[in-house]
Amino acid sequence: MDAAQRMEELRAQLEEHNHRYYVLDAPVISDGEYDLLFQELLALERAHPELVTLDSPSRRVGGAPLDQFGRLEHRLPMLSLDNAFSPQDLYAFEERLYRFLKSSSGLTYLVEVKLDGLAVELVYEDGILVRGSTRGDGWIGEEITPQLRTISSIPLRLRGVAPPLLEVRGEVFMERQGLVRLNEERQRLGESLFANPRNAAAGALRQLDPAVTAGRPLCFYAYGVSAPEETPCARQLELFDYLGELGLPVNKLNRFCGSLAEVTAYFDKLATRRHDLDYEIDGVVIKVDSFLLQSRLGNIGGVMRPRAPRWAIAWKFPAIQATTRLLDVEFQVGRTGAVTPVANLEPVDVGGVVVSRATLHNQDEITRKDLRRGDYVFVQRAGDVIPEVVKPIVERRDGSEEPIFIPVVCPVCGHDLVRPESEAVTRCVNPHCPAVRLRSLVHFTSKAGLDLDGLGQKSMEQLYEQGLVRDLPDLFMLRHEDLAALEGWGERSADKVMSAVARAKSPSLARFLAALGIRFIGEVTAGLLELNFVTLSNLMGRDRHELEEIEGIGAQAASSLVDYFADPSVVQMLEALHEAGVEPVAPQKIATDGALSHMVILFSGTLSHLSRAEAKNLVKEHGGQVTTTVTQKMTHLVAGEKAGSKLKKARELNKVILTEDEFLGLITP
Ligand code: IVH
Repeated sequence: MDAAQRMEELRAQLEEHNHRYYVLDAPVISDGEYDLLFQELLALERAHPELVTLDSPSRRVGGAPLDQFGRLEHRLPMLSLDNAFSPQDLYAFEERLYRFLKSSSGLTYLVEVKLDGLAVELVYEDGILVRGSTRGDGWIGEEITPQLRTISSIPLRLRGVAPPLLEVRGEVFMERQGLVRLNEERQRLGESLFANPRNAAAGALRQLDPAVTAGRPLCFYAYGVSAPEETPCARQLELFDYLGELGLPVNKLNRFCGSLAEVTAYFDKLATRRHDLDYEIDGVVIKVDSFLLQSRLGNIGGVMRPRAPRWAIAWKFPAIQATTRLLDVEFQVGRTGAVTPVANLEPVDVGGVVVSRATLHNQDEITRKDLRRGDYVFVQRAGDVIPEVVKPIVERRDGSEEPIFIPVVCPVCGHDLVRPESEAVTRCVNPHCPAVRLRSLVHFTSKAGLDLDGLGQKSMEQLYEQGLVRDLPDLFMLRHEDLAALEGWGERSADKVMSAVARAKSPSLARFLAALGIRFIGEVTAGLLELNFVTLSNLMGRDRHELEEIEGIGAQAASSLVDYFADPSVVQMLEALHEAGVEPVAPQKIATDGALSHMVILFSGTLSHLSRAEAKNLVKEHGGQVTTTVTQKMTHLVAGEKAGSKLKKARELNKVILTEDEFLGLITP
């Protein structure tokens, strides 16, 4: 067999296994066996680049970043849908249909779940995915072909006998779990959170670098085609079977209903079951089943300016809202001193989740919504993730409600609060405020900081309350017997913390700076500072101008640093840390010839010998790079215990997987 034949065979096999894994959820080979086939294809593609095809699974990894999105006109417009909010709306919809058709019985429907994601079009020519785009304004969308190729459940090649042209429409979305995990990661990185799956899906698809999209857990379901009359199907129900046979994922909850009574019964059933689904749905879409009737009914807006099909309607679930009482407001002081008002609510069930607290964000938000202590309020869960107070029920006020103001002094330390003219945030500027201290300590030991094993938020709060750790230097003077004696602790947890603390005594300068939590100095800026100044004492002697000269360091960061190091109590603290043996290690020259040069390594899961910070340090010392997301750029994944989805993704992308010991083997001569 020649190379071209073998490559064709491998592509077909890999797509078949991909389909079994992602669409049917019924794999017949192991991940390892899949990897071997994939490796073989990659090797052949390297040897014969001219034989690489559009439908090669190797294209799923991302490809080169784009400068901007191209515009793509849909051959036939992607219309929107009219909405129904009640059974009355639904019966009115059916009445319109009968009037239009001059008939009075016999309509049947397909009821589909309405996913909360983003509509896209996939164009298959002779069964090969050649283009993909967003809906855009319905006429012209953005071309996102490489981004869509990274979604595992989208076939790159259709199965069976594919038509010359098929334009598939469907929804790209993110499952709840994926969204929660993505948000957790973003929170750690200090990035803004996605309020709902639609934003998350849109954010992932609108990445110019498809490798970033590849790292996001996106899913896809097909719900239609641009021109049903060009298919062998006579009705929507058949179309779903047809799409399924072609290898496209279709939602199993889609259901044929012989009457509106069946439709409403199914709607009610889904409304109660929606919270048990892996993904968020915001209603159902009801479509006249017969394509013949669909074409007779046509579109609202006519042939010239079609807006929405007359034969379909979206029936939305009522928003997940509830009413409760705003009992009181707590003012929390964060690491940066920012004071956040948090509402204490009378606990209330909002769509299956008990909500008793919700952030009110800041004074402007409270004023805008005119929320008062004692108000009855509407609460809702936006995108099922973050509870939100929508508005007060003014009619239920009895005059006893009190306006809410952020206090003028810090609720924790009593220091004056400051609200800069141009900002929405009010801050406690007392660096010794116990709340700021505790939050800073928690940050220092967290993953974003030095990643001290065994010292998560709860433990740190306990150590703070017990008076064992009130300041950073205290951490490094902890005694084993004090820890072991704490409630809920013991020899083993004390051991663990003691060795984590010992290891943390020689962090890289960048880690150390990021861990200090200086305003405007995140991981990236800290890395630049390390690169340019190498040691802490060298950095401390710099003035604003010297700092600002560095590419990537702005005025805010520079003056924040200068102010920080000018504070005598900071200097004192750093000296105490030094005395306790904390010595940010002068990083080795970025060794391009190190054992790990040219490697981009990701750590996933729990390592048994190393802390994350230490592992990352080792990579840098040996000339490698560290990444926190599975991207095309990544070359190796070091899998600890419970490595999870990143491991799976890395396997799919055909990356080298190492155990922790194998990793250590690479750097110990
Ligand atoms: S059909 C011409 N079916 O809802 C028919 N849309 O409000 C147009 N959607 O942009 C779409 N699930 O993003 C259809 N099963 C489904 C759907 C669905 C979700 C979304 C889609 C569309 C929006 C219209």
